[in-house]
Parts: sequence; C-alpha cells; structure tokens
Amino acid sequence: METLLPIGIITAILFALTVILLIADKLLVSYGDCTVSVDDEEGHREFTVQGGSTLLSVLIDQGMEIPASCGGRGSCGFCKLNVKSGGGDILPTEEMFISKEEKKTGTRLACQVKVKDNIELFVPDLINTVKGMAETDSFDTRTKWTFTREGAMQVIEDKKKPKLDRQSRDKLIDIIDRHRDDPGAVMPILHEINATFNYLPEAALRTVSKEMGVPLSTIYRIATFYNLFSLTPVGKYKITICTGTACHVKGADGLLEAFEPELGIKSGETTADGLFTIEEVRCIGCCGLAPVLTVNEEVHGLMTKKKVPELIEQYKAA
Ligand code: FES
Ligand code: FES
Repeated sequence: METLLPIGIITAILFALTVILLIADKLLVSYGDCTVSVDDEEGHREFTVQGGSTLLSVLIDQGMEIPASCGGRGSCGFCKLNVKSGGGDILPTEEMFISKEEKKTGTRLACQVKVKDNIELFVPDLINTVKGMAETDSFDTRTKWTFTREGAMQVIEDKKKPKLDRQSRDKLIDIIDRHRDDPGAVMPILHEINATFNYLPEAALRTVSKEMGVPLSTIYRIATFYNLFSLTPVGKYKITICTGTACHVKGADGLLEAFEPELGIKSGETTADGLFTIEEVRCIGCCGLAPVLTVNEEVHGLMTKKKVPELIEQYKAA
C-alpha cells in the first residue's frame, strides 16, 4: 500500500504534464494552413487544412479510408504511409515506431505525424496488398516489406527460406513417393530432381531430408560431391566451352567473348528465360577437334566465332 502511493503520485504528475502540454500546444502553437497532397490507389488529390492535427485525423476527415485498429497508439502499424516531401523532420515521437529501412523510404505512421507544414504523401493500400498476397499464396509473415516514395512495394528483409511453388512441389513429392520404400534411394531421387528442375533447389533438398529421414548434411555432401548435380539453376542448354591448352591455342577465348554479348550473360551465368547457361572447362578430351564446346551432351568441334549466333538460333528453335 505504501509503495503504491508514490506510483500513484508519479502517474498523476505525468498525466497532468501531458494535459498541460496538450493544452499549451493547442493554445500557443498555430500551424496555419497547410496543403496536403495525396496519391493513393484512386489517384491524386489535394486539400488545404488547418495544421496541428495528426495526419490520420486529417485524412479521415477528408473521407479517406485509412486503416487503424489501435486507436492511434502507434502499435497496429496499419496507418503506415509514405511522406514524399515536406512535413518537416521525423520527430523523436515518430522515430520509435519506424525501422531504419522505413526511415529511408519516408514511411511514417499517420497517427504519429502532426500536420505542421505542406506535405506530399503516398498512401499505400496495405489491406488490399496483404489480401492479394494471401490470395496468391505469397504472404509470409517472416518477410518485411514497405512501399517506396513512388508507391512501389519493396522487400526490405526477407527471412523466409526459399519455397517451391505448388506445381513443383507436386512433382517433387511424386519423385519421392516412387522411392519412399527404399531408404538408400537418395542418389536416384537427387538424379530425378536434377533432371526435372535442371538443378537441385534448396527447398527440394530440405523436403527430401524431411520425407526420407536423411540428415540435410548427408544430402548436401552427395549433392556437392558429384559434378552432375548443380545447386544453382542451370539453363535448359548448358554450353560448356573448353579453355584447355589445345582449345586455347586455337582461339577458345574468342568463343567465350562471342557468346557473352549474344546471350547477355557471362561465364557461370544463366539467361533470364532459363534457356542457356555458359560455363568453361579444362579439356573435354576432344583436342583433335579444337576449339570445342558441348551443348548438353552434343559436341561441337572446330568452332568459330562466326558459327556462334547460328548455333544459338538452332537451340532456340529446337
Ligand atoms: S492507428 Fe495504429 S499505428 Fe497508427
Ligand atoms: S583442350 Fe579442349 S578438348 Fe582438350
């Protein structure tokens, strides 16, 4: 009882101070007229308001729907919007509610920003964005995202592990099911996964580990031991250019230079359409045909730079 008394007194003093500050703010500070320009899903609008209120109340007064479920306490995060320009510096009271990344994009909570000056805003449609993500199965609570000042959605922190889409997952489960009764079947399973996806997706390896009861470390040991497996996406056509001594002497370096601008990728990369990957090797055992390259299993000897565009077209048309 004795300890409760000082706590009660302190609370009363704090409350009184808050009330005094609020009254002083209303009576002593006059913010004057401010122009608020807003861009949202419905377009652009502009209005002049008397400064001093929070952005949340100003926008709601203008008939805009700003989601807010915490009653302006700054804890629900639904009233987030982006300040494109104006509005003054981020106040210490606003600062505690936004992350470093959000600060960079101008994100604020409408309930914490006081209108003191002309301000230009972008109001993201948070609720519909989340609904859309849920409908397409792409919502993940572990991903943090925000809206840029221009209104584009941007992932600022992606803690989620890569996932397979539904179709790929069905294919994967089908492969595993065919080998489920054979505990030593990891190798053929990886073989089939590599043939199906052209590489071993991380999500697929985790699923194999879980479904087959084999430690992930064992699966990775196998996957990284054999050259026929790749842990990164490989194009439908893997172009392997030999840069061994015999091929080098006959101009293999020029071949690589001819492929790179044609496909827009460098050695070790895959084209965005997933068709071609270029890589280099040291001698593929056909030195008599130098310079040599292979496209998947097919050997192309006596290659010249001139033949490169024609070769690419041939596989594109296949
Ligand atoms: S209303 Fe909840 S954070 Fe602003
Ligand atoms: S050096 Fe190219 S095939 Fe041998």
